[in-house]
This record gives sequence, structure tokens and C-alpha cells, in this order.
Amino acid sequence: MNYNKKNVTQVDVKGKKVLLRCDFNVPQDKKTGAITDDKRIRAALPTIQYLLENGAAVIACSHLGKPEPNFEKWVKKQTEKGKDPAELTEAKWKKALDALRMEPVAERLSQLLGKPVILADDVIGPDAQAKAAALQPGQIMLLQNTRFEKGETKNDPATAKAMADMAELYVSDAFGTVHRAHASTVGVSEYLPAVSGFLIGKELSIMGKALSDPARPFVAILGGAKVSDKIGVIENLLGKADKIIIGGGMAYTFIKAQGHDVGDSLLEEDKVEFAKKMIDDAKAKGVELLLPEDTVVAKEFAADAESKTVPSDAIPAGWQGLDIGEKTREKFAAAIAGAGTVVWNGPMGVFEFDKFAEGTRAVARAVAASGAVSIIGGGDSAAAVEQLGFADKITHISTGGGASLEFLEGKALPGVVCLQDA
Ligand code: 3PG
Repeated sequence: MNYNKKNVTQVDVKGKKVLLRCDFNVPQDKKTGAITDDKRIRAALPTIQYLLENGAAVIACSHLGKPEPNFEKWVKKQTEKGKDPAELTEAKWKKALDALRMEPVAERLSQLLGKPVILADDVIGPDAQAKAAALQPGQIMLLQNTRFEKGETKNDPATAKAMADMAELYVSDAFGTVHRAHASTVGVSEYLPAVSGFLIGKELSIMGKALSDPARPFVAILGGAKVSDKIGVIENLLGKADKIIIGGGMAYTFIKAQGHDVGDSLLEEDKVEFAKKMIDDAKAKGVELLLPEDTVVAKEFAADAESKTVPSDAIPAGWQGLDIGEKTREKFAAAIAGAGTVVWNGPMGVFEFDKFAEGTRAVARAVAASGAVSIIGGGDSAAAVEQLGFADKITHISTGGGASLEFLEGKALPGVVCLQDA
């Protein structure tokens, strides 16, 4: 895959209207709508500032959450979730859409830039078009949530063309969304010259080097709840990493594959064969596969559950594993200590409960102290590293959850593939 893409400094932006796709899909407080973490907005600033300082007029756009722009489909989805169809009124649907309007993003972006951000009332409608037409070099506007348009997630050509028609150049800096082939992430590149921003460049170069030319030993740490989410990553990394550490909920399927009972722990029966194959493949390829030796088990899934540490091959019936034990923490930390490159995706236990955060904390501490080039996939592992206070000791925390996972799987990312080659 050629990820050597033309970037924003390699094209003339002066006096141009630039459609800039960002990933402003930020977490919000459910009640107030206030942004609870603005990292993704901050991560877009270098490209925005570059464009504004170099005389472009910036038409920024992003999705926010997963709004359903079709009333009938919304009713269907809500009904499937168990809601009473009689209560699913059009007013409620509109309220759900309103909760995902871009106002909080525009406000935060304006504060960070120290300049006004003109907010459009629609995505490709008359308000967006009028505001885009009047936009001057050095000014920035933000379109409404791109997923308010029915054609966005379908990558509808007419939707993409209407977005593209407002601008003369397309810049993508939405790394978190490059695994989605949508109108605003891929479709627009059919109608405009398309180049990358600084964030995409940074994410691709750091993660790309880790996969293609890592400082060795290359240690991959994989955790999180499910083996099924990580199959592609495990397969891809088995050909590249020197050591693979497996923890978190997914480890129990591997423990089962070794022939042990896992009590009430998370288990994907249909992935046990896959886990066996991975254990065999690792042996055949000379990759060290490290699994938990001891496990912190609990009587129930709760913050204050009764718990104890047991050998991983002796998890008692009626107990469930919620964290790696102390011996495992030491074993994993020792494996990480000499690493040249560490890629980490997925927590080692239920770190949201303090009592079961020790494994994730120990691994975070080991990664931070290792001196290795350290890369954390977005999503849960990024949240864990931040919550536990190690974020500033990590080389790179990806802004993409799904996107970084697909990158580590070696998949083609449509939002990158569509950009012009350098
Ligand atoms: C993310 O949060 O991973 C990206 O913004 C993509 O969002 P999506 O999963 O709703 O497409």
C-alpha cells in the first residue's frame, strides 16, 4: 500500500477555498452536551492554522456521533433496541439529531483558534452554500454534522459533489475516520484535488514505520474484551512482531485454547480454534507469545466485587477473570523493558474499576519506562493510558480507534488511498 501521499504543503492553497475533513467526533456529556475531551479538535489545529496563515478560506467538516437522518430507519433502530414505537415521535427524532449538532465543536474550535468560526446550519444546503460563497481567505467555517445528510455514509456521489462544489481543494486530516468510505472522506476526492493534512501524515508515518521498519525488539501488546475484534491485528502482527503479549478479556479464549477452564470469564467459544492456531503459528514463526500466568478473578462484574488471584490454569467455576495477576504483570513488564518498539491496543483488565486496573497500570508503567518508540491505538487503551496518568510518556497516542486497528491489520484505508500520491 502506498501511503506516501501529497500533503498540504505541496499544493498551492493561497486564495483557495479548501474543504477540510476533520475528525471532530468528540465525546460529550450526555446531559449538557459539553465536550468532555477536545483532543481530536486540538489535533486538527496545525493543519487549520497552516491553511489560514497561508491564505486559504477553510470549510471544515466532520461527523459527530451516529445520527440517523432517516425518520423511518430511526424508528426501526429504536424499536429494535426495545423502545415502544408509540412513543417514537418525529419531535423525539429531531431532538436526538439536535443533540449532535456542531455548535459545541464550533465554539471549542473558535476558543482554541482565537478567532470566530462561522457555523453553517446545514451540510450542503442553502445556508452552507451561501456561507461558503462569502468566505474570505483567512476565515474558517464549519458545516453541520456531515451525517445529517442521508448520502454521507452511503458515499453518495451527488452528496459528495455538492460538498466539493463549495471548494477548490480537498484536504483530509480526519485520521480517525479514514477507515470509512463516506461522501466526505472519499467521495469528494472524485471532484477535487485531494491531499493530506499534518495529522494524517503524522499518524501514518509513525505507525507505518512501526510496521515496516520497527526498532527491535518489536513488542505488540493486545488486550480488550474480544478476540474477534483483534483477529486481523494478531494475524498481521504475527509476521512482524518479535513478541506478542495477550491480556484483557480476550486472553481467556487463549487460556481455554491451552486446555484450561476459565470459569465465568469472557469466552468466545467459536474463537478457541483460532486461538490454538495462533499459539501454533507463533511457535512456528519463532514469535514469543506471552499469555497470563495468573489472573485476578472476581465473584461478579462490579467495582467492589470480592476478588482473589489464582493461577490462570486454575480459574475456579463461578469466578470471572477481570485483570492479570502480579506474576503476569512482572512477566509482561520484563518483556516490555527491552523493547525498541511497542504497539499497544486494548487494556489488560477492567481498568474502569480501580480494583482491576493494576494490570493495565503495570503495563502502562512498563511502556512509559521502556524508552521504546511507543504507540497506543486509540479508543480504550488511549483512555486507559490517560486515565492512569501515563499519556505524556508515550511517543504517539493515535486519534483513531477503528482506523488505527485497521491500519495495524494491514488493511487499505479508503480515506487515505483516495488522496493524491506524493
Ligand atoms: C471514531 O470515533 O472512531 C471515528 O470518529 C469514526 O466514528 P464511527 O465509528 O462512528 O464511524
